[in-house]
Amino acid sequence: MNKKQLKTVSFAVIVLTICYLCFLIVNKSTDPQEMKRYLQVQQQQSYQTAIPSVKSLQNQTWVQIFRDDFNRKKLNTSIWNVANYMYHTDWEQTLYQGYNVYVQNGNLVIKTKFDQIPYNDTGRDYNYTTRWIDSQDKFFYKYGYAEVRIKFSKMVQNDLIWPAFWSLGTQMYWPTGGEIDTLEVNCNWGTNGQAKAFRTNHWGPKHDVDMCYACGTKFNGKLDFTQYHNYTSVWNETQIDWYIDGNLYRTVANGTKIDSANGTVELPKWNHYFIFNQAIWEGATPNPQDYPKYMYVDYVTVLQPLQTYLNQQQKH
Ligand SMILES: *[C@@H]1O[C@H](CO)[C@@H](O)[C@H](O)[C@H]1NC(C)=O
Ligand SMILES: *[C@@H]1O[C@H](CO)[C@@H](O)[C@H](O)[C@H]1NC(C)=O
Ligand SMILES: *[C@@H]1O[C@H](CO)[C@@H](O)[C@H](O)[C@H]1NC(C)=O
Ligand SMILES: *[C@@H]1O[C@H](CO)[C@@H](O)[C@H](O)[C@H]1NC(C)=O
Ligand SMILES: *[C@@H]1O[C@H](CO)[C@@H](O)[C@H](O)[C@H]1NC(C)=O
Ligand SMILES: *[C@@H]1O[C@H](CO)[C@@H](O)[C@H](O)[C@H]1NC(C)=O
Ligand SMILES: *[C@@H]1O[C@H](CO)[C@@H](O)[C@H](O)[C@H]1NC(C)=O
Ligand SMILES: *[C@@H]1O[C@H](CO)[C@@H](O)[C@H](O)[C@H]1NC(C)=O
Repeated sequence: MNKKQLKTVSFAVIVLTICYLCFLIVNKSTDPQEMKRYLQVQQQQSYQTAIPSVKSLQNQTWVQIFRDDFNRKKLNTSIWNVANYMYHTDWEQTLYQGYNVYVQNGNLVIKTKFDQIPYNDTGRDYNYTTRWIDSQDKFFYKYGYAEVRIKFSKMVQNDLIWPAFWSLGTQMYWPTGGEIDTLEVNCNWGTNGQAKAFRTNHWGPKHDVDMCYACGTKFNGKLDFTQYHNYTSVWNETQIDWYIDGNLYRTVANGTKIDSANGTVELPKWNHYFIFNQAIWEGATPNPQDYPKYMYVDYVTVLQPLQTYLNQQQKH
């Protein structure tokens, strides 16, 4: 062999060795277990994990599927719809309109203010305006860890202010699509004028037949609502858990028998979208001096257990 032939042969040997090694690897990865692990590694590269603030859940792997830190100058309208000139129920004392939602210092701010306005669609007069934002058709999820870090203006007896972070079913009318109230705050729901945090979930067999179980269970611990706290709901097929600052305070299991509402708890099985709003409850005339009031949302995030995420990805 001359030098040229030697080079050619060496080159061929190297190429064949590489091919053989590749063959071994490919062959090995057709082993189902190996293949599964390989696919998971591939998928892992396309998702972001996150550590939940609830310590007792930190021993699982969570995938972050949604987060808004409100760190830009403007509300991201690819995520949020802003309701305009809207009223929600016949009895809320607030009309959703005006300059009452904005982003400031890394917070979503929703303002509720004394602002007398005749609402010409219903001929009704409103004394207060506020805003409502939701993620309908923009962000929705089924099952996961939803958390909001939020603080409020001071709340006092009979101000009737009613801030909320909640979700509703897409694809299905209320309440059959389900409603998960991760957080509502009110001073006038049997709390002796103290502001308290409430959690609820609603369901129902048909349109407007509202079912809920231990409806509006309140958090009995003391909370200073003018400081930030973390409010979390963790929803899966069989259970919803509510946490405040990492402490579990309420669990509702699917299928729980309830006497008062003719049936059993049915947890939502539809996609849910988020709503932030800050209405005024009915029953009295608030004192305009107690207003304006604000809610400040530092962030909202949704995590899913890795397996839930992978299962849902596979279905898509
Ligand atoms: C995580 O830890 C909690 C106790 O803090 C335990 O109940 C739960 O089973 C653990 N979960 C996993 C997936 O290890
Ligand atoms: C708005 O949200 C969308 C969807 O999450 C994201 O892709 C986009 O980068 C966001 N825009 C800004 C300006 O943050
Ligand atoms: C109702 O009021 C709004 C806001 O002032 C105005 O834009 C609208 O034209 C009014 N509609 C009617 C029917 O008067
Ligand atoms: C609006 O406020 C005024 C002044 O406080 C009060 O007299 C009136 O009853 C209020 N109207 C409504 C609809 O609450
Ligand atoms: C739902 O969550 C609870 C609490 O973490 C857990 O015990 C249960 O196994 C979960 N159910 C499903 C179907 O994952
Ligand atoms: C709230 O969550 C943040 C992380 O998002 C964490 O740094 C903080 O310690 C949590 N606060 C409490 C009281 O759990
Ligand atoms: C939840 O409970 C309802 C009502 O009992 C039942 O029909 C449904 O099968 C349950 N879902 C799961 C995932 O167990
Ligand atoms: C429960 O049953 C009673 C008596 O049949 C009926 O009047 C009521 O409307 C039912 N409630 C719901 C929530 O279905």
